[in-house]
Amino acid sequence: MILKKSPLILAIESSCDDTAAAVMRDGVLLSNCVASQTIHKEYGGVVPEVASRAHQANIVPVVEMALRQAGVEAKELTAIAFTRGPGLMGALLVGVSFAKAMALSLDIPMIEVNHIQAHVLAHFIEAPRPAFPFLCLTVSGGHTQLVLVEEALKMTVLGSTIDDAAGEAFDKTGKLLGLDYPAGPVIDKLAREGQPIYTFTEPNIADLDFSFSGLKTNILRFLQKEKRQNPNFIPENLADICASVQARIVSILLNKVEKAVAQTGATHIAIAGGVSANSGLREGLESLGTQKGWQVFVPKLAYCTDNAAMIAMTAHYKYLKGEFVGQDIVPLARYAY
Ligand code: KG4
Ligand code: ZN
Repeated sequence: MILKKSPLILAIESSCDDTAAAVMRDGVLLSNCVASQTIHKEYGGVVPEVASRAHQANIVPVVEMALRQAGVEAKELTAIAFTRGPGLMGALLVGVSFAKAMALSLDIPMIEVNHIQAHVLAHFIEAPRPAFPFLCLTVSGGHTQLVLVEEALKMTVLGSTIDDAAGEAFDKTGKLLGLDYPAGPVIDKLAREGQPIYTFTEPNIADLDFSFSGLKTNILRFLQKEKRQNPNFIPENLADICASVQARIVSILLNKVEKAVAQTGATHIAIAGGVSANSGLREGLESLGTQKGWQVFVPKLAYCTDNAAMIAMTAHYKYLKGEFVGQDIVPLARYAY
């Protein structure tokens, strides 16, 4: 196998309910395609077996589309990257197996990528890019982390959730309110039409760790109490409930960011992951940044939720360092870095 200097990478993401593929040449994104699985709405959450089958159906057309949109032929590729984890084992297996087969047939190397690390590196796909070291709050459906990013591939976790992730707090609240999965974007939209008039608890968690399970119980008890007095409480006050829940989740997140800035002295502050698409969080961070004199980095919406561009970006850095893996690589449902 002869390693070509200029990387032309096909990246595949299949960790949860989005099948995505992207092509990147020399760090420049040429295409970014995603097939989102809407079928999970019917079940109120992602059903792993259903997700695996949908990935199998989607992966070939999504990869073909990514290559076509990039104007690249498979034989020109210099590496194949894939999400190794964390994620749903069956879903990851589809992407990993596909990448192995393609790398073997093209005789090119493979690069494995940590999905959470990739969410952070989504900030390097397009300008403006944060300068090292910077602080990143990664908030997704499965993870909530504060990391200090010292170099592209050198990140230190300063704090993380001890129970639910921020995205789960949105999704589980949505379930209590009878909203479709994933509820984050729905709550975000409804919150804009309401006022945060209800007060929910802020957990008292030491250091830079997070907790959202107490908030969920607090919301559940509040709704049960209100519904006893007025069975129509939820539909009649939905926008205000959403605005109040969102305001509390955002304040929990931003209070920890402030604490992390005080500890690290970082001045470049970024957010990443699906929940970084939340308008309350984006606006809250922007205004806090203006107040405190921080430079704030908020990713384009397409790079917040799961995508393969971020996998390609991470793979680009790994390619430059020669970090390749062999055919014996296995996916990891849990994958710390
Ligand atoms: O990063 P992501 O796409 O997948 C994971 O790696 O988990 O994150 C998905 C999460 C879901 O919990 C979804 O409800 C949440 O991101 N989300 C949002 C918004 N858009 C997506 N949460 C709040 N507001 C949004 N606008
Ligand atoms: Zn994600």
